[in-house]
Amino acid sequence: MEWVTHSAWETEALAARLAARLSAGDVLAFTGGLGAGKTAFVRGLCRGLGSPAPVSSPTFALMNEYRGGRLTLYHFDLYRIETDDDLAAIGYYDAAGAPGAVTAVEWSENVPEAFGEEVIRVRIEPEGDDVRRITVEGVDGFEDSGT
Ligand SMILES: Nc1ncnc2c1ncn2[C@@H]1O[C@H](COP(=O)(O)OP(=O)(O)OP(=O)(O)O)[C@@H](O)[C@H]1O
Ligand SMILES: [Mg+2]
Repeated sequence: MEWVTHSAWETEALAARLAARLSAGDVLAFTGGLGAGKTAFVRGLCRGLGSPAPVSSPTFALMNEYRGGRLTLYHFDLYRIETDDDLAAIGYYDAAGAPGAVTAVEWSENVPEAFGEEVIRVRIEPEGDDVRRITVEGVDGFEDSGT
């Protein structure tokens, strides 16, 4: 399903609605270049899950963990990651297999072989200063939830 948003806030709100559709074990693999709005989307996911934790880019930390919501949210940024071994080393597979948690992965295109048919794909394409085309694949029923 595809949406066009016109502000970071609108992207967050879309993500917050998507959060209601997530269940434990889900992995969201983001693609979209620098500044596309991936972290903004994850901020909305965190809010939608009910966690009060502030979301920041894990570009340097590699992984952030947000607790206190319906599900724990693990947030990875693969900007500096190149191989599946690196991915394992930063704890991706532990997070993706953790009970009661969902995992969001920025720059998933850096290790494409790690993200197959089973993941939820979120593609964010800038179409202007504040305009983003957001495509989500792999969430049953989200199409009907309204925007
Ligand atoms: N419609 C929109 N949706 C999301 N962000 C938007 C939108 N319009 C403008 N922005 C701005 O674009 C920027 C998105 O930054 P964000 O950190 O979320 O991108 P990112 O994809 O995570 O980048 P990076 O690859 O550096 O991690 C913010 O400054 C935000 O305010
Ligand atoms: Mg980011």
